[in-house]
Amino acid sequence: MTNRDNLQKVQTCMKIESTFGEIYKIFAARFPKEKSLWEGLAKEEDVHARMFLMCRGFQRAGIIPEMTPECITMIDETMELVRMVKEKALRGELSLDQALETAFSLEFTSVERYLSELVAKTNEGDLKKLFSTLLSDGRSHAQRIKDAMVRNGCLK
Ligand SMILES: [Fe+2]
Repeated sequence: MTNRDNLQKVQTCMKIESTFGEIYKIFAARFPKEKSLWEGLAKEEDVHARMFLMCRGFQRAGIIPEMTPECITMIDETMELVRMVKEKALRGELSLDQALETAFSLEFTSVERYLSELVAKTNEGDLKKLFSTLLSDGRSHAQRIKDAMVRNGCLK
């Protein structure tokens, strides 16, 4: 795995975050009942995308940790998932219940599958802080979506 491959994965992470943002903007327009939830999440995803953009500076300095093959597979799979969800959202194929459920599992997946590994493997202080923020924001997103699921009676 070269530095260049690593950089490409960081770019995929950035794309995942910005696609999350696009999905939430579609949901905000489609589900007025939970508009403020979706808009809040969308705004934060845009910040996350910019945070991965900042990672490129760290990348050039060679301090992004080498990612394991498992981590890379997870990043690629997550990208594929968010792309599919965006397509479904654009086609209006999801009900509010399904949108909440899908968003929850997407947030949960990205947090547990690759962000936790990035945090664990990074030693450089500023970068570790950046990944930790992404991780805790992802957990907070999952929690806020779960609260909305309860509000809307999707969770019994
Ligand atoms: Fe995010």
